[in-house]
Amino acid sequence: MRACIVYSSCTGNTRKVAEAMAEASGLPCYALRHAPDPQDYDLLAVGFWVRKGLPDARAQRYIQSIHGKNIFSFGTLGAWPQSEHAMRCQRAARALLEEGGNTVLDDFLCQGKVNPQVVAASQRKGTHPMTAARQERLQEAARHPDVNDLQAASQRWLNCLTAARAAFHQ
Ligand SMILES: Cc1cc2nc3c(=O)[nH]c(=O)nc-3n(C[C@H](O)[C@H](O)[C@H](O)COP(=O)(O)O)c2cc1C
Repeated sequence: MRACIVYSSCTGNTRKVAEAMAEASGLPCYALRHAPDPQDYDLLAVGFWVRKGLPDARAQRYIQSIHGKNIFSFGTLGAWPQSEHAMRCQRAARALLEEGGNTVLDDFLCQGKVNPQVVAASQRKGTHPMTAARQERLQEAARHPDVNDLQAASQRWLNCLTAARAAFHQ
């Protein structure tokens, strides 16, 4: 069974998660600009960063090129990973993947540090007023992905691989 990891990352958070998964599994890991043809694989881990509630545009374009594959979907975002916003982002990624006739075996999201320049710009524009709750969330996001996130993502990916290999060799 051929499997690999492909990720999109602007500031490095999602890359860290992808590289931890690659190290844990011994499988190749590609940044999107070097992404392979998905047709050459049976199972792909597809990583994105959340932008405005959706997988970032580059990841979306790659997702649109994947058809009929087994997928492990993963990503990073600034919001709390258990929040309704995070759940919506995860569902959106899943829906995009399923539109292409893919089967999402599992999905994983964790927080990732939000680029301070982007935070400052949104402050200036007044798009996201700095409340105490927002500050707390951004401070926590700045500590992620942490070692627990990397371990959790790797473990979920390994479980996914084990199940997919068992099904493939039946
Ligand atoms: C332009 C922009 C839009 C973002 N939109 C969201 C969003 O809608 N929801 C969210 O939780 N995080 C959002 N974030 C935070 C990023 O998803 C988060 O920092 C992520 O870990 C970045 O991943 P990367 O380092 O792999 O690029 C946004 C960040 C940027 C720069």
